[in-house]
Amino acid sequence: MRRSLVVGNWKMNGSRSANRELLKQLLSAESSGSDVAVCPPAIYLSEVAEQLGGSSIGWGVQNLSEADSGAYTGEISAAMVADLGCKFAIVGHSERRTLYAETDSLVASKALQASAAGVVPIVCVGETFEQRNAEQTLQVVGRQLRALLEHEQFGELGEWVVAYEPVWAIGTGLTATPAQAQAVHAFIRGELAAVSQSLADKVRILYGGSVKAANAVELFAETDIDGGLVGGASLDGSEFIAICRAAG
Ligand code: 13P
Repeated sequence: MRRSLVVGNWKMNGSRSANRELLKQLLSAESSGSDVAVCPPAIYLSEVAEQLGGSSIGWGVQNLSEADSGAYTGEISAAMVADLGCKFAIVGHSERRTLYAETDSLVASKALQASAAGVVPIVCVGETFEQRNAEQTLQVVGRQLRALLEHEQFGELGEWVVAYEPVWAIGTGLTATPAQAQAVHAFIRGELAAVSQSLADKVRILYGGSVKAANAVELFAETDIDGGLVGGASLDGSEFIAICRAAG
């Protein structure tokens, strides 16, 4: 039985005072019955860690470097992420793939880097609007996933999570219907099962793309949807708490 997981991806939002208020709200409603984590901008991590330390709410990063250490101006290593007590690292978010030209193989390297440091990578996959219209959804998602599954170091990967985020549903208010999302989640589960059934049974597959309190229950009711990766709605304490409860 997979335990549900809800992760808030704050993206490039927040401030020290706004973060404190938001986390205070989340802490007052702890124990939703699902695993919960937030991924703030990295600059706020140590304050977030201090405030969440000792609670059941985890924290993570939105991105990390594929390199170990050294002359990589502006980057954050997996060891640093682990040093800050991060449980999760989002890798391959569509905004990183699109705006920063991250390739499937770079994303796979980042996932392995996180995992080697003891941080659980949340590997994002998803198709654009054009790709969906051209009926290429499964082909695109399959290709993104296989970059990791077929990586020569895949055997070294520890716990990991997949997030299916259709690009056309991110920040647009358009949500995949539960049936549309379930179809892709079932496909992803099948790809994992082709590697091993135990992998398919244990990897959590989150849905992301305009998840809100109003659609979370329906989405999370689907067999292969194990929780959500939430953007905009994770910045609103009561919305996020309601989404976490829907997953629990
Ligand atoms: P929204 O929930 O704002 O659509 O963003 C989804 C997302 O990109 C989470 O990583």
